[in-house]
Amino acid sequence: MRTDTAQTIRLADYQPSDYLIDRVDLDIRLDATETRIRASLSLRPNPLGVAGAPLILDGDELDLKALALDGHALPAGSFTVTPQKLVIASPPDRPFTLLVVTEIDPSANTKLMGLYRSGGTYCTQCEAEGFRRITYFLDRPDVLSIYTTRLEADRGEAPVLLGNGNPIEAGLVPNSNRHYAVWHDPHPKPSYLFAAVGGNLGHIGRPFTTTSGREVDLAIYVEPGKEDRAWYALDALERSMRWDEEVFGREYDLDVFNIVAVSDFNMGAMENKGLNIFNDKYVLASPETATDSDYANIEAIIAHEYFHNWSGNRVTCRDWFQLCLKEGLTVFRDQEFSSDQRSRAVHRIAEVKTLRARQFAEDAGSLAHPVRPGEYREINNFYTATVYEKGAEIVRMLKTLVGEADFRRGMDLYFERFDGTAATVEDFLSAFEEVTGRDLTHFACWYSQAGTPRVTASGTYDAERRTYRLDLSQETPPTPGQPVKEPLIIPVLLGLVGPEGTLHTRSNQVRDDGLFVLENAAASVVFEDVAAAPVPSLFRGFSAPVKPTLDLANDELLVLLRHDTDPFNRWQAGQTVAMRLLAAMGAGDSAPEDDIVELSESLRVFLQSEAERDPAFAALVISLPGESDIAQEIARDVDPDRVHRTRLLLRERIATHGLTELVRLYESLASTASYSPDAVSKGKRSLRNAALELIAAANPVEGERLCEAQLANATNMTDRVAALAVITMIPGEAREAALTAFGEQFADEPLVLDKWFGLQAMIPEVDTLERVRALMRHPAFSLANPNRTRALVGAFAMGNQVGFHRADGAGYDFLADLVLQVDPHNPQLASRLLTSFGTWRIMEAGRRAHAEAALRRIADQPNLSRDVGDIVQRSLDSTG
Ligand code: TRP
Ligand code: ZN
Repeated sequence: MRTDTAQTIRLADYQPSDYLIDRVDLDIRLDATETRIRASLSLRPNPLGVAGAPLILDGDELDLKALALDGHALPAGSFTVTPQKLVIASPPDRPFTLLVVTEIDPSANTKLMGLYRSGGTYCTQCEAEGFRRITYFLDRPDVLSIYTTRLEADRGEAPVLLGNGNPIEAGLVPNSNRHYAVWHDPHPKPSYLFAAVGGNLGHIGRPFTTTSGREVDLAIYVEPGKEDRAWYALDALERSMRWDEEVFGREYDLDVFNIVAVSDFNMGAMENKGLNIFNDKYVLASPETATDSDYANIEAIIAHEYFHNWSGNRVTCRDWFQLCLKEGLTVFRDQEFSSDQRSRAVHRIAEVKTLRARQFAEDAGSLAHPVRPGEYREINNFYTATVYEKGAEIVRMLKTLVGEADFRRGMDLYFERFDGTAATVEDFLSAFEEVTGRDLTHFACWYSQAGTPRVTASGTYDAERRTYRLDLSQETPPTPGQPVKEPLIIPVLLGLVGPEGTLHTRSNQVRDDGLFVLENAAASVVFEDVAAAPVPSLFRGFSAPVKPTLDLANDELLVLLRHDTDPFNRWQAGQTVAMRLLAAMGAGDSAPEDDIVELSESLRVFLQSEAERDPAFAALVISLPGESDIAQEIARDVDPDRVHRTRLLLRERIATHGLTELVRLYESLASTASYSPDAVSKGKRSLRNAALELIAAANPVEGERLCEAQLANATNMTDRVAALAVITMIPGEAREAALTAFGEQFADEPLVLDKWFGLQAMIPEVDTLERVRALMRHPAFSLANPNRTRALVGAFAMGNQVGFHRADGAGYDFLADLVLQVDPHNPQLASRLLTSFGTWRIMEAGRRAHAEAALRRIADQPNLSRDVGDIVQRSLDSTG
């Protein structure tokens, strides 16, 4: 394997910057191939830094055109410059101004980092280290500056010019067809929050008044002609702003808030101060083009980026190791927002499903890392499910532990004390230590220790004493670089359940709200006044990101499905029973017939009582765990073909058992009302479409007929895509006809075609690879566009266990080739795709060997990007 020479950055090595930059004055002359940037930097030595140190400014593929210090050109020999670095050997030991002129080619910027073009629009992406692709700078998050940006461009090419902060001036450039706009951002910020946009864009907007009376002009900029698809995003923005005022007491702080949607973007969206830039997939929606889950994602991501204004921007990160400080906290905040806007229980289940599918898988694979990693080679590779999703779970556990009121007091103190600074995880925790008087040192292990803890629970009922004892123990498996683990502080929300629901019992170890805190490797909880043998309901609401092993029989779990007062655990109970069957059958054991019948009957009865009461919840309960979840549960020598067959079989049995009810349900949920994306309507559609999937599983011919009818009559994209998804899983003429018709109907809608690419890429058949190859030649496909690439190739690698993990290794070889093809033009996109190899070690020996060979082939290439080099090395490293 190639020995990587890329430098490892360590948290333990953190040093404050030797210099600070108080003000940044930028003059950017936008031009398709020769954009000129004059940056005037007001520098001074940092009292916390090393006196007399050289000034080392970061660059990345930069071309220096001029350099002056306090108005004088620097003498040769007093500085050195490369595209990566500008070093001034002995700068003055007092404040000084550095003028740096660079020239860049935005049209040649295919990495989508720094200043680039999307369509004809100029836009920027500076997180994490993109600002250094615009000018030489102290490109680190603990250097906070006040920015003034003058943008200049051709009036025809870029009539709209947007920057951070407030617009302060605009006008025409005399004797030219150019114009300019000046933006001033009064809030000190790190360079990663810088943004600029220039283009021919349409917009919608309206004013918003904050609680304290500040008038803010909200606007969303999109490709001209798509304005009417931005209203839902604007509505979500207004609701986010109000919610943050009401729930966290956080108000907006500028006169304008702009959002720009672009079609070429490496991630979801970016929280640049006052100028959020979005992947257009998370802005544009109409009933005809967007599904219910698109609407929900738009709402969540609009909220997420807006919430960063406080958790990320006003209080930022000291260094990139603290990424979870802004991301985990902001995900927690957007999840709370969505829960308040929708059904809390349903939303919680959806969150946990993604956490398990992505984060648990990451934590169990070669790329496992702590929420706050101790080292990295490429920071772009740490925008992960662990940092984001597990990071959010840590904040949620903190809230559970300290309680609602102290959580709010702690948050207030955190925002107040660290406003305008670059903070650390310790700073965050210190606010809660101060308001509660607790010591959170032990709790902080959640940030430094990777791996998903396993909690084993078993109960003993003593009929004579009427007591119930619950024995709990925890263990975290070893992960790369961390063979030995400490016990964690684990909040367990629990209750005891009998046939009438939650029992009223007593335990002096359990808080009134049902909280027991597991603080050691093992502990016992004793309940008194327990009238009859109960069923314990543990980790209610998923109170900790752990894997519980419960000493409960299937029929006890089915008591929880029926009677628990906690909806999350009702859902969980059904899933656990199903998972036990699936994992046993998937690992080659035969399924006990009685258990299949018992589960099918429970789900049938469940539907009868719950379908009407809460359709969204019911839809989740009747859906089986996914194939990758089952693979994870089996955890070794996985045969994905067998897992797939097993899931099909169980689904067919459940569906056949309840077919009459399912058909009735499908018919009863038909709606003639016009489309609305609200949670209640969404829930009905999701139950109806879950029923459709089951009907097709029991009776493919009837399934095809219903799908064809639904495709013909659908008035919205949710129902259309759901029917297309179901019919696509049934091999034959009908699906090909449906796919062709859909492809033609939406040929001019790239975001809709992405769904079409994705559905085909996920057909669970061995020869889907050939279909994917053919689709790569489709005129609408392009490897230069991250959305297209993720829709087809990403969906294949992450969402198609049978196709990607093909026994002959052709899926792995395909992905390896593709990663090598994408890497030279977009390393971030390439390394994301490569993470689909993260779980290769759980596969059976033949597949494992193919995956390893494909990874080694990548590793042996010269000139890999740091992004891909890092992922491939870590994927192979822990081979043992
Ligand atoms: N900070 C962004 C967020 O809200 C993440 C992000 C957007 C990003 N674009 C990026 C991270 C590009 C790295 C590179 O979560
Ligand atoms: Zn974020």
